[in-house]
Amino acid sequence: MTSSSSITIYRQDYTVPPFLVDHIDLTFDLGPSVTQVKATTRLRHNPESESHDIVLYGEALELVKIVMNGKTLAKSDYATDNGELRIANVPDDVTLVVDTLIHPDQNTSLMGLYLSNGNFFTQCEAEGFRKITWYPDRPDVMATYTVTIRADKEKYPVLLSNGNLVETGDLPNNRHYAVWDDPFRKPSYLFALVAGNLVCREETFKLADGRDVLLQVWVEKNNLDKTAHAMESLKHSIRWDESRFGLELDLDRFMIVAVSDFNMGAMENKGLNIFNTRYILANPRVATDTDYANIESVVGHEYFHNWTGDRVTCRDWFQLSLKEGLTVFRDQEFSADLTGSDSGRAVKRIEDVRTLRQLQFPEDAGPMAHPVRPDAYQEINNFYTVTVYEKGAEVVRMYQTLFGRDGFRKGMDLYFSRHDGNAVTCNDFLAAMADANGRDLSQFERWYSQAGTPRVRLESHYDEKERTLTVSLSQFCPPTPGQTEKQPFLIPFAIGLLDSKGNDMPLRLKGGKDSGTSCILELSDASQTFTFVDVAEKPVISALRNFSAPVILEYEQSDDELLHLLSHDSDHFNRWEAGQRLAARRLVSLTKAVQDGQPLTLDTAFADAFRTVLSDTSLDAALRELALTLPSEMMVAERLDEIDPHAIHQARQFMRRTLAEKLEKEWRDAWDRNRTEGTYRPVPSDAGKRALKNLALSYLLALDNPVYCQMAIEQYNRADNMTDRLAALTSLVHSGCMNRHPEAKALLDDFYREFENEALVIDKWFSLQATSPHAGIETITTLMEHPAFTLKNPNRARSLIFGFCHNNMAQFHAADGSGYEFWSKNLIELDRINPQVAARLARCMDQWKRYIPSLRKPAEQALRHVSEQPLSRDTREIIEKTLSA
Ligand code: TRP
Ligand code: ZN
Repeated sequence: MTSSSSITIYRQDYTVPPFLVDHIDLTFDLGPSVTQVKATTRLRHNPESESHDIVLYGEALELVKIVMNGKTLAKSDYATDNGELRIANVPDDVTLVVDTLIHPDQNTSLMGLYLSNGNFFTQCEAEGFRKITWYPDRPDVMATYTVTIRADKEKYPVLLSNGNLVETGDLPNNRHYAVWDDPFRKPSYLFALVAGNLVCREETFKLADGRDVLLQVWVEKNNLDKTAHAMESLKHSIRWDESRFGLELDLDRFMIVAVSDFNMGAMENKGLNIFNTRYILANPRVATDTDYANIESVVGHEYFHNWTGDRVTCRDWFQLSLKEGLTVFRDQEFSADLTGSDSGRAVKRIEDVRTLRQLQFPEDAGPMAHPVRPDAYQEINNFYTVTVYEKGAEVVRMYQTLFGRDGFRKGMDLYFSRHDGNAVTCNDFLAAMADANGRDLSQFERWYSQAGTPRVRLESHYDEKERTLTVSLSQFCPPTPGQTEKQPFLIPFAIGLLDSKGNDMPLRLKGGKDSGTSCILELSDASQTFTFVDVAEKPVISALRNFSAPVILEYEQSDDELLHLLSHDSDHFNRWEAGQRLAARRLVSLTKAVQDGQPLTLDTAFADAFRTVLSDTSLDAALRELALTLPSEMMVAERLDEIDPHAIHQARQFMRRTLAEKLEKEWRDAWDRNRTEGTYRPVPSDAGKRALKNLALSYLLALDNPVYCQMAIEQYNRADNMTDRLAALTSLVHSGCMNRHPEAKALLDDFYREFENEALVIDKWFSLQATSPHAGIETITTLMEHPAFTLKNPNRARSLIFGFCHNNMAQFHAADGSGYEFWSKNLIELDRINPQVAARLARCMDQWKRYIPSLRKPAEQALRHVSEQPLSRDTREIIEKTLSA
């Protein structure tokens, strides 16, 4: 924790590294309170650089000595300043030996080398390697690594690092050692070390080229029974990358390790991926369907990084989306393909777009808005954002939408043939896509350089006599911090036309050939008109099919048209979208009605439409569940100029209750008929049924009828899996049943006792309470005092504090400002422990300027209070940007 002067780093200031590293030899003598690190580095002058200075980065290191070409350097031989160590005027070829001491047990930031449950782990992305030793810690310096680990044999029987195990042996004093060799050149952010008392599930696996590889999933002993799904997911990932992209595993051994204390989801260290336990551990007793799906996608994500990230890496951190946007796109496609059906693909697409809208659109409209390839940062950790990841993935998806799967594959092939083994830029990726497909993509680059969510307005005119339909599209991108003027984007706009029976109509653009029943309009100007000919009748337009571009569509369609799309569109995504638009429209007017003290009503046509969807058994249960889930409070807030959290909450509760009443019989049926048979399987068809059944339960509980409370209690008691058990418990707590029925109340305690030793389940226990609309600040404060609560473990801190501040709109925004005070108090405390996690908590106030005036005041007060404290660079950057926007 430092009270830093904020230095801003600019993308334009990039210069090549003065020295390159051929090889590094690292030796660790591990001890929890003192670890000795010896780094022997062979450096060579970079002919592209004019400087002859070696620049090393270091943080919280105790430097013992530096030896250069055999000579120990005196303090006067180098200069240190602000984490930089500079040795000036160095000859072309140098061997540098750096001895340092570090203190893992004092490291609560979880960056660099740290302890978790007594075992050693590292996290080096983005700039954690500099907490291990002085080194040119930047991604464009790539070296081969040899790593020797020495440690107590009993306490740390397992010693792991990247690459291949080449030697092991015993040492005096009950110590032992292992030597690992990674033949692939890599940047320091991909270095990893794990040492401790761990066990593994392992398998040999045959690659497409016939080679056998060893796969391992390492966990603490009590978790070995929760590793099967991660192993399956890893094997699926390997197969998928072989078949879809022709990319093979390049190592003889691939390891995954789970750790309880981790700042983010997981990390793609070469050959030694490290995961937050929540993205590895699963069995039916402790993990939900969502957990299973997340594990599959995160295991895939990290594995896919082996090519998109490790083999081809980023030149500098501004290029982060080069690897993250691309790898998220790849994991999305992986999960979609694995569902094995069109409706499964649609379900995945809807979920991904929902995330984008819920989290990225607000970011793009708030104080932290930045381009997919940012231009400036103070702390790079703050730029691991939904914009870089999820919007970045949408940008990659647009290449595929423009060029088709085959064209996209050609671009990927060219990208690897040009850049394998190198550290490159987003523009290199764009150039490969452009060249492989013979297209000039210079305009497309604006998706990387301009922030903000573009709005696309659609207007149409049908000429009955000429049988033509003109579609006018115009685009506008609102200003964002530091970017007032925007140039038009190249927007692939997918469109289809439905006739009055709901069938897709054949499409022919004026002067063009037939384009099937769905086509991509390329919008490149500020506004453009497209004319369809031979249009037999006035169509209903299905616009932006499958969400073909990350934009906000402004197109006023009547309720009748939306109802038509909801029941007939062949594009599953747009069926769902139509339902969401119908609901959102009503939620916005209901919110206004709440604010104006008007009576609340819901029209029958809308309820009937929901009834039809609910009863349409020809539709997959998973799709019905998505269609019948109302837009979140956050989503409604996005559509309002001024955010009144309580009004939004009441409006949404009213709509839920009304739909529960009007469709009571159908919800009951849905609950009855979607029970799954036989033993639990986390497959899409069963998961979809459970999701619909549990949505039905949550609607029924909104009716405050003891019969349904009883039904939920029984579901809880009978459940043979966490999905059904947690859904029942959550519904009971969130509906308020819990407070009215002592029998229900006992379940919360029962749940705690049953899962006391399962940290990830206890996280769920905290979070389901923290997100309850009935959980006021007193409840949260009491939970904070629970012996199982700790700020030091990020998963635990997130479950309770983020659960409340981020996912409990009704209570967090209490009129007396108590929610904001709670936020500031915990933010300040957390910042002293873990800046990276604290800075994420700081983001909860992104939207404060759009709150209603009565909330804006206490919000500002809380923000100012935080800004007056000594803060980490991470949190300081967020708070200052939030206040000044
Ligand atoms: N590169 C990782 C991923 O997306 C995420 C990551 C970046 C990370 N920095 C981190 C994980 C710090 C943990 C801690 O897969
Ligand atoms: Zn990633």
